Amino acid sequence: MKNIVILTGSGISAESGLKTFRSEDGLWLNHRVEDVCTVEAFERNPSLVHSFYNELRPIMMKAVPNAGHQAITMLQQELPDVTINVVTQNVDLLHEKAGSKNIYHIHGRIDECVCMNCGHVLTTLGDVESDESCPECHVQGMLKPNIVFFGEMPKYMDEVDKMLAECGMFIAIGTSGVVYPAAGFVRQAKFYGAKTYLFNLDPCNNSSQFDQEILGKASQTFPKFAEELINELKKKG
Ligand code: APR
Repeated sequence: MKNIVILTGSGISAESGLKTFRSEDGLWLNHRVEDVCTVEAFERNPSLVHSFYNELRPIMMKAVPNAGHQAITMLQQELPDVTINVVTQNVDLLHEKAGSKNIYHIHGRIDECVCMNCGHVLTTLGDVESDESCPECHVQGMLKPNIVFFGEMPKYMDEVDKMLAECGMFIAIGTSGVVYPAAGFVRQAKFYGAKTYLFNLDPCNNSSQFDQEILGKASQTFPKFAEELINELKKKG
């Protein structure tokens, strides 16, 4: 088996009590996405954006991984000869808490800020205020949540391009396939010959691009698949 790439979205964390991005009311913690997750919103009102992430941070930090996250770790542990990369759009740390390795947070992390003056990335477990100074360059008011806002480039794109070109299997879990470039990864992986699987509650925006779509809760569907894959690959040696 060549490498495996697993792309995760907010659906994998839903059963850990975290709200998915595109919930029915279209709101996230009572805010419109345009007010808290865009470059323009941050330039317009940094205090509002910081207070949104200050509210979200403890919720995410308290969440615990579920069987979906744990099954990814099991795959990595049971198949040490296969490189299994986890490319996540989630800013929560549930893959880390589940003990997974090779995690790429392409949309950033809730526990970090970045200084827009010097680029320094710092761990921020408590609240961050808009007038705080950077501990590295000491310039005030330049700390931004290390979250990729709409209008910014996702992280690790070179690494992900390389992984997709080399993978034999691409698995997407809990993502609506609406936000690019992540929504285009399945097409890229397929182009290079990977088998493609989707584990989602509902059919997603780009369902037709997957070889197999497994509908249901990821905490139930994915562990079963992972177990079968481990048995199959171990049998093949
Ligand atoms: N198991 C599997 N899938 C689930 C579950 C579950 N228990 N619960 C929800 N889902 C699915 C939904 O059917 C939906 O298709 O997860 C998907 C979540 O979709 P979105 O809310 O659009 O989240 P996501 O795809 O992660 O969003 C991508 O959009 O705004 C940006 O940066 C933000 O990273 C986010 C990106």
